[in-house]
Amino acid sequence: MVDLNLLLNKAALKAQAGQRRLPTQRVLYELLQAAIAQGRLQAGAALPASRELAHDLGVARNSVIYAYEQLAAEGYVQSSRQGTFVAAVRPGHLDQHERDSVVLDSRALLSARVRTCDRRRTPQDDLRPFMPGIPALDAFPMKVWQRLSDRAARQGESSELGYRWSTGEPELRQVIATYLRAARGVRCHPDQVMVTDGTQHSLALCAQMLADVGDTVWIEHPGYGGARSAFSQAGLRQVPVTVDAGGIAPPPMLWQTDTPRLIYTTPSHQYPLGSVLTLPRRLSLIEQARQAGAWILEDDYDSEFRHDGPPLAAMQGQVSDAPVVYLGTFSKSMFPALRLGFIVWPSALADRAAGVAGELIRGGRTIEQRALAAFIDEGHFTRHLRKMRKLYAERQASLRDALMRQWPLPGVVLGGQAGLHLVLSLPPDASGMVSDQAVARAAYAQGLSPRPLSMYSTGGIDGFNGLVMGYANTPGHMMQAHVQTLVAALGEVVGDRVAS
Ligand SMILES: Cc1ncc(COP(=O)(O)O)c(C=O)c1O
Repeated sequence: MVDLNLLLNKAALKAQAGQRRLPTQRVLYELLQAAIAQGRLQAGAALPASRELAHDLGVARNSVIYAYEQLAAEGYVQSSRQGTFVAAVRPGHLDQHERDSVVLDSRALLSARVRTCDRRRTPQDDLRPFMPGIPALDAFPMKVWQRLSDRAARQGESSELGYRWSTGEPELRQVIATYLRAARGVRCHPDQVMVTDGTQHSLALCAQMLADVGDTVWIEHPGYGGARSAFSQAGLRQVPVTVDAGGIAPPPMLWQTDTPRLIYTTPSHQYPLGSVLTLPRRLSLIEQARQAGAWILEDDYDSEFRHDGPPLAAMQGQVSDAPVVYLGTFSKSMFPALRLGFIVWPSALADRAAGVAGELIRGGRTIEQRALAAFIDEGHFTRHLRKMRKLYAERQASLRDALMRQWPLPGVVLGGQAGLHLVLSLPPDASGMVSDQAVARAAYAQGLSPRPLSMYSTGGIDGFNGLVMGYANTPGHMMQAHVQTLVAALGEVVGDRVAS
């Protein structure tokens, strides 16, 4: 058993977590990761049992479990019944240059804002069954899209090959505004619409334009990781706000103790739990934000796909001149690789935002923007959405049916009134029974990509334990077979503790 006393100690761990405003478990993971990458922990060395290390460091056992699981997921350690061991092979994703960089001094190379970022996923990962957030790629009208793209390319003139509008092509902004007014109840003029490379880009722009480093942003808990990374890269202080069946639920005192500059929310279909923000809460959030001088960032990412009635109107349009910045994306309604989304600025901000965009964005991609404008204007968009709504309802029903027939654990299925995914809850991790991260890892090894619900919470494992399961990109007739594979993966984790 290696002695970690030389590498880790209670005071240093707490101090780093405090200074860098990171959860202890994340700091613990980073310290162990660096020690392995730099060869200070030798291959084959046994790490202390999680309970023992937690006791020595005075941290929760879940923090150590989180760090070990993260290291295992990235190939730094291997876990078995015998314990947790430093892996013999260094993680395959580090090439020689990166390995040298780590050895040189990982801290000097990257800014503090991005140092903990390390996400690598291949396009193939996104195609695996149950990956959340991917629409039905097999049902997209490729031929129509190719025809409109060809037409837009042919119509282009050489004089249009220079830098284009930073705020997007006028014809696209026009059709987006018309669509949003009719379909989402958004109050907007085309001048308020700014075309972006998708919501990730929109969030980064909003953080940059509307908040200063150190300002407070409220984020949903559990919530969208993409928003968390955009805010941490902008140097904002993130305050998690709990979500319940009625959406984001800030305790009244929070307005005084942690007055926000930004509030990020997914009111139409909370990501990932699926709740809808109630009308009284919407009105109160708008009013309180107005008084606090805060901007609400309304992420309306998949509201087009409402399965139990007409889509709910956007929050932005519910009160005139609401302090709401509305964010939309074509990643779900068209396809993710399009990389087009938009911001609707409040009218008071639109002109200034256009001026700032002139500094930050070099406009272009005229062909895609024109093809999209034609796709919407000629009715293909509405037709496609109508078909997808029906298809997603069917695919969701197939998934529910497969879970009902085959899933061996007691579990609740959350969400499903809208969108492209369901959440399957797992028995609480605290019981030591089923860790969602372990199930997701076993499922990944079998070719599936459900996401562990605990990953959506701000500090890793934190009471949320379940699987976020996308169903939109999986044909209904394949659902039983994929759930069978998932059940087999579960079996590898829980063994014979659960009778199937
Ligand atoms: C909550 C949420 N917002 C926005 C997006 C879309 O982001 P983008 O437009 O960058 O593809 C996603 C995609 O998964 C999401 O889950």
